[in-house]
Amino acid sequence: MSPPTIYKFGKLPRHVAIIMDGNGRWAKAKNMMRVQGHRAGAESVRDVVKAAGEFGVKYLTLYAFSVENWKRPKSEIHTLMGLLETFLRDELPEMIKNNVRLQAIGRLSDLPENVRDQLHACIHATRQNTGLVLILALSYSGRVEIIEAVHSIIREIKLGHLDSAQIDEQVFNHHLYTRYYPDPDLLIRTSGEMRLSNFLLWQLSYTEIYITSTLWPDFRRQHFAEALIDYGNRQRRFGSV
Ligand code: FPP
Repeated sequence: MSPPTIYKFGKLPRHVAIIMDGNGRWAKAKNMMRVQGHRAGAESVRDVVKAAGEFGVKYLTLYAFSVENWKRPKSEIHTLMGLLETFLRDELPEMIKNNVRLQAIGRLSDLPENVRDQLHACIHATRQNTGLVLILALSYSGRVEIIEAVHSIIREIKLGHLDSAQIDEQVFNHHLYTRYYPDPDLLIRTSGEMRLSNFLLWQLSYTEIYITSTLWPDFRRQHFAEALIDYGNRQRRFGSV
């Protein structure tokens, strides 16, 4: 086996978020069932998580299942939930070995009980790890997250813990699922689509966007490295000159 390529990164993004798209198209192009596309996509997840930790990325957020994805055929939802459960079960020893801390954002109460239990077990088992923070977005919707934050703020005001005049970006941020993490520096979307698809709508305000035509099941370590190298060559201005 040849040794892994050593990449030279300039400035590395601290937080990378990924919209993993194109599993279905990958399968279709190969005359396979969509399920097989998702299965191959799960392999890309394994590869990219491992690479992210090795490259020194601190936070990796993966859009694994959106609130809108519940509208897919029952059989496809079943497959995706099964893959998720298998991933969590099989990858736990690897996460422990590689010092990965697992986290999740979204309406986790929507998930089937077996997936939720496995998820919470992994979050608990990796809670002391200090390496890569892997955040799975599950039953996630950016709009729902913002509405939930508004409700949470109203509750605090009603309880007398907050004055409405105090509401600013920092206070609002504190009520989002992502309150413990910095905003993403880089958003990667595979399969060439140019949309946000209700992902991290608040958090992506100043994020650099990288879109590649590579379909998610083909997106592996070297494609991830290419995205990081591209990011390293960018000038971020945050609205200034
Ligand atoms: C988009 O492909 C992908 C998803 C809806 C889910 C992502 C899931 C995985 C990568 C597999 C399992 C995940 C984990 C964390 C183990 P699509 O079906 O929308 O593709 P298409 O647009 O080509 O139809």
